[in-house]
Formats: sequence, structure tokens, C-alpha cells
Amino acid sequence: MTPTAIAQTLPQTPIFGCLPATGAPRRRAFITGITGQDGAYLAQLLLDKGYEVHGGMRRSAQDERARLETLGIADQVILHDLDLTEMTNIFRLIRTVPVDEFYNLAAQSFVGASWDQPLYTGDVNGIGVARILDTLRTLAPETRFYQASTSEMFGLVQAVPQMETTPFYPRSPYGAAKAYAHHITVNYRESFDMHASCGILFNHESPLRGAEFVTRKITRGLARIARGGNAPIQLGNLSARRDWGFAGDYVEGMWRMLQQDAPGDYVLATGITTPIRDFVSFAAEALDMPLDWRGDGIDEVATDRRTGRRVVEVNPAFFRPAEVELLVGDASRARRQLGWRPRVDVRGLATMMARADYDAVA
Ligand code: NAP
Ligand code: GDD
Repeated sequence: MTPTAIAQTLPQTPIFGCLPATGAPRRRAFITGITGQDGAYLAQLLLDKGYEVHGGMRRSAQDERARLETLGIADQVILHDLDLTEMTNIFRLIRTVPVDEFYNLAAQSFVGASWDQPLYTGDVNGIGVARILDTLRTLAPETRFYQASTSEMFGLVQAVPQMETTPFYPRSPYGAAKAYAHHITVNYRESFDMHASCGILFNHESPLRGAEFVTRKITRGLARIARGGNAPIQLGNLSARRDWGFAGDYVEGMWRMLQQDAPGDYVLATGITTPIRDFVSFAAEALDMPLDWRGDGIDEVATDRRTGRRVVEVNPAFFRPAEVELLVGDASRARRQLGWRPRVDVRGLATMMARADYDAVA
């Protein structure tokens, strides 16, 4: 029996969304973390491709569907209660919602917070993945599985650029938990012949990016200043370099991985690395705010060249106990085997995000 046929025989209790009318079978996918940045873009992509899209959402005092609403798809997806720390949730879900493709995007995804919550981060980002894999192997071994691995696993980089074969050297509890998740996914693939793939994704951003990540913190701060606000943006390490792409491009790569006959691991990246400082300048230029940079270390500041107003200052509170100074990926395997290419460069990304935040402040 196919997953779709099994699904039509089982009781389900979605918390939002209607169960579809029975009829011609559509491909079904489940997305953990559907309320997050990538989850929302992936849901949109899969809906466009004709999938029936289910997603996991944590129980919360408030409705967390804002990103799905922004994309206009909140009423097109079927949402279920799911917390990756709770094995019973995962078991019940996989038993009652059989799917063709399972994308695990849920995570405590903020690296900075992982030093404050190392155990929780390990539980969700590491052990949570083992919970899913073992339940899939037991109840739904034919389901194709995607794990959201990360360039953060490269940490103190052992080669430049980083590719699938570059050794991991995580620099945060987040990176360490994700490295466990990556290895356990590879292990289940090799042990139980599962179609399980890991996307080793470099940083990807969008107007839907969480407000605490540096790109969005910058574009929201600049938008407020451009609209007359006078609080400078306080940042940490301005010299760290990231390989930034657009989240909408990266979810296409996730989907392509699960369409391959054989599972595998793939880096998705642009191949261009940019310091935080330059991202600030690109975003400021998009708002007609040319910047002058002066000073070093914690005394470095950026001012608006036209008005002399201070726009950025350094606050050591945003430094991390251990830093990932440089990330730059080599996505040639994904280009060759998946035909995947990023379409938005870092300047285009900064411009897209800054303008969206400027419009939102209006
Ligand atoms: P995000 O916006 O922070 O979304 C994370 C999602 O996980 C949210 O829906 C969140 O739900 C959910 N979640 C958190 N803890 C959970 C738990 N205990 N049980 C169930 N769901 C939980 O992150 P993102 O940027 O979309 O990233 C998606 C995935 O890719 C993450 O695994 C991240 O680590 C990984 N990744 C991201 C990047 C990047 O640059 N964006 C790069 C590489 C890898 P709430 O809405 O309730 O918080
Ligand atoms: N968040 C933040 N806030 N970061 C700052 C700040 C600040 O005020 N100032 C400087 N940074 C630096 C951080 O020290 C880091 O070097 C860089 O900006 C990027 O930080 P984030 O935007 O928080 O992202 P990240 O690279 O740590 O993690 C993101 O990318 C990973 C993939 O490499 C997240 O999306 C992870 O979930 C993802 O795995």
C-alpha cells in the first residue's frame, strides 16, 4: 500500500486545516518546523508542485502561523501538534500521517542561544532526529527523509572552501548537536537502507528570517533609522564572514535531493563569502544611506555619510564564546547532480531584505 492509500484509512486530528477530500492521490509531504523561515518557503514550493502539505507546529499560547500567512498559504497546509522532544508525538504522527517525503527542518536554530540551552539544543537538534529516524524505520521505512544539516558543523574550518568531504569541527553546542544529527542520518541510511539525505546548507536568509539573526537584525535596524529612528544598531563580531544566499533558492535544493533515485549529502552555498560589515553597507546602500566606517575592534562605528548620524556600534555582549570566523561553500556536487544553482547574490539579498523591512515600518 502506498503512503497515500494508508493515510486514507487512518484517523487524524489536525489542529489547523481540513483533511483533503478523498480522490486522486496527491504526493504528500510532512515538514517539521513549518512555521519557520525555511518551512514556510518549502511549504509554498511543495504546494506549487501539487503536494498535499502537512506540517508540525509546537503548542503555543499564541498562533505562530505568521510566516505562512505572509506567503498566503496558512489555510492550504494541514498542521499537527509536534514537539521533537516528545517521542509520543513523533510516533503518533508518523503512524497516522503517512507521507512520501519527510523534511526535518525543526530546530533550536539560533547558534547564540545554544550556549545558554546546550541540553535543550542537543535534545531537539540531535536526539530529536534519532527519534524521527527510528520511528520512520519502524513504521514507514519507504518514506524519503531530509535532514537540515548545516555549515555550522564546519566551525573552525579545516579547508577552504568547505564541501561534503570537509571534516567537521563544530564550535557551538548547536553545531555539535547538528553534527550528531548528520552522522545518525548517514548511519540510518547505511544501516537500514533508508532514503535519507542531508542538506549541508550555508546561511540563507529572506524577509521571513528570524529577527535575532544578524542579517535581519541589520535590515530591521536600518529600516527604523531610515524612517527617522535614532537608536544605532548594536552588533558583535563585524569581521566574521558568511556565505549568504536566499532561502527561497535553498528549499528548491532540499526538494531536489529527495527526487534523486539514491539518497546522499549535498552542500548548498553560493561560493561567495562576505563580512558582516559589508552586508551592513549593502543593505544601507539599498536605503540610500551610504556609510563611513571608522575605528577598530569594540570602537568600530559606522555613520551615515550624509547626516553624520551613528548607525552601527559594537557591543561585546553579542560576541560568542567561540566564533565561526569564515564560511564559504563549494556547491559543485549539487550543481552537477541536482542541477541546483542559487539565483540571488548577497547584494540582491541585502537589498530585498532592507526594502521589505523599510516597507514594513511604513
Ligand atoms: P527557524 O526559522 O528558526 O525555524 C525553526 C523551526 O523549528 C520553527 O518552526 C520552530 O517552531 C521549530 N522548532 C523549534 N523547536 C522545536 C521543537 N522542539 N519541536 C518542534 N519544532 C520546533 O529556522 P530556519 O532558518 O527555517 O532553519 C530551518 C532548519 O535548517 C533548522 O533546522 C536550521 O537549524 C537549519 N539550517 C538553517 C540555516 C539557515 O541559514 N537558515 C542553515 C543551515 C541549516 P517555533 O515557530 O515554535 O519556534
Ligand atoms: N545573531 C547575531 N547578532 N550575530 C552577530 C551579531 C549580532 O548582533 N553581530 C555579529 N554577529 C555574527 C555572529 O557572531 C556570526 O559570526 C554571524 O554574525 C552570523 O550570525 P547569525 O546570523 O546568528 O547566524 P549563524 O551563522 O550563527 O547561524 C545561522 O546559520 C547557520 C548556517 O551556517 C543559523 O541560521 C543556523 O541555524 C545555521 O545552521
